[in-house]
Amino acid sequence: MIPGVPGESQVYLNGEFLRVDEAKVSVLDRGFIFGDGIYEVVPVYQGNAFRMAEHLNRLDRSLAALRIAQPFDRDGWIDLIQKLLARTDMETCIVYLQVTRGVAKRDHQFPSTPVAPTVFGMISAWSPPPAAQRERGLSAISIPDERWLHCEIKSVSLLGNVLAKQQAVDAQVDEVVQFRDGYLTEGSSTNIWVVSGGKLLAPPKNNLILEGIRYGLMGELAAEAGIPFESRPISRQEVEQADELMLSSATKEVLAIVSLDGKPVGSGKPGPVFAQLRAGYDARIAAL
Ligand code: PDD
Repeated sequence: MIPGVPGESQVYLNGEFLRVDEAKVSVLDRGFIFGDGIYEVVPVYQGNAFRMAEHLNRLDRSLAALRIAQPFDRDGWIDLIQKLLARTDMETCIVYLQVTRGVAKRDHQFPSTPVAPTVFGMISAWSPPPAAQRERGLSAISIPDERWLHCEIKSVSLLGNVLAKQQAVDAQVDEVVQFRDGYLTEGSSTNIWVVSGGKLLAPPKNNLILEGIRYGLMGELAAEAGIPFESRPISRQEVEQADELMLSSATKEVLAIVSLDGKPVGSGKPGPVFAQLRAGYDARIAAL
């Protein structure tokens, strides 16, 4: 028994649908040994996967970056997601997908004879952030970004992110805001947004951040709301003096950060730009 995971919940592993407590991976799986794999987290509302094409495009990019063979074509992935959703009665949930390089003798380099990637999929229970979080906003602390230099790959090698998130938990805040060389990168598992002088700012899409699926979406929502959007390096000072801060991710959607390092951000309440973007996000979900 794994606390919080019903034993009978169904997962997909290498061609089979199994009970989660029956699904087993080899101890020599390179995902286990080296963290050599990639993943996706797709939110599902009322049975509809949100931005599925964009998530599957990123999954393709992650596989290509690690040179892991693509196990399915696009229809194969969509079929798998539909089959997973057909096996749950949760309408609003998360689809988790993971592919590792597969099982091989432990050796750092890629296996010389090709091995089949390990393909795993599961549905996780999830509820959108409660109204109280949307209305009150979140707290965060700033920390140095000590992760590797390929944060653009959605890799299961998440130790840096795990340690970062634990720092937030230890400090009794909701998230961390990471800085590398004096510039904003991202949260432990979220993208960070800054509002300054009426403009929405985000760090550039490069190897220092994961391009969240909500990164593109926030740009679209800002354009629709007539909010100027700039993607550029953002200094620590700009973050500290921001009128508003926000975070975004599949599971947190879009939430305001109202305190950073114990100091209020702007008015200390979720601001007007957040309210506009949040309304746009809700409208996209409602239109699914
Ligand atoms: N995390 N940056 C990092 C480091 C992330 O792990 C995530 C998502 C994001 C936001 O990406 P998206 O908008 O596609 O969710 C940014 C997921 C939710 C996770 O690891 O559970």
